[in-house]
Amino acid sequence: MRRPLIAGNWKMNGSLALVERFAQAFTTAELPAEVDIAFMLPAPYLPAAQRSFAGLPVSLGAQTLHPEPKGAYTGEISGAMLKEFGAHYVLVGHSERRSLFHEDDTAVLARVRAALQAGLEPVLCLGETLEERETGSTEAVVSKQLAAVFDGLDESERRRLTVAYEPVWAIGTGKTATPDQAQEVHLALRQRLAQYDTALGETARLLYGGSMNKDNAAALLAQPDIDGGLIGGASLQVDDFLAICQSAG
Ligand code: PGA
Repeated sequence: MRRPLIAGNWKMNGSLALVERFAQAFTTAELPAEVDIAFMLPAPYLPAAQRSFAGLPVSLGAQTLHPEPKGAYTGEISGAMLKEFGAHYVLVGHSERRSLFHEDDTAVLARVRAALQAGLEPVLCLGETLEERETGSTEAVVSKQLAAVFDGLDESERRRLTVAYEPVWAIGTGKTATPDQAQEVHLALRQRLAQYDTALGETARLLYGGSMNKDNAAALLAQPDIDGGLIGGASLQVDDFLAICQSAG
């Protein structure tokens, strides 16, 4: 019922050459028809990707956007600009944005709203730190992050979001949540979403992210409440990313 999504988050990595390598490989590869595949690229690569991926069953996305549609915000990029260059998705609230760029829950909600306004599909990222996990507050932390955004949206807006659970301690560390650990949090998030709207609990797409790779993807994706993955490091390797996409099929 829920279509899996495998999204690669390149972060501030890659090159035009890598865009071309992926486009070539994906042209000849067997891609699972029942899986949505997306590349969350650094914004400057969107135009090239839009051309090179034309006709391929993959979508493009960006990694952040400014909350305002336009104006005197030197260095920033609006949702409408991303949309003009083929972005379908945009990550919002990634832990690196929260910690390195001081985006708090209010800033995250403003960006989700801006994304919806621009016709983009926001992928809301949330997750607990190691300390929060060790003190037993994982569920409270992710519920609060979820509510900070979902409380501010109406029913039809809520249905346009994808949520990515990314434990901070698993991002880029090679330490993945076990399938059981991830499933437990996904189930809690789904139950929380169902409190807004029963249908939302059933249809919301929940991704896992944090050191997902070609060897651990299948076990994570086999969990009943994990509907896909947000992949950082492994999304920069053509063969690894393809293998993860195939393991979601
Ligand atoms: P990772 O990154 O797969 O390299 O851990 C995931 C993410 O930050 O989205």
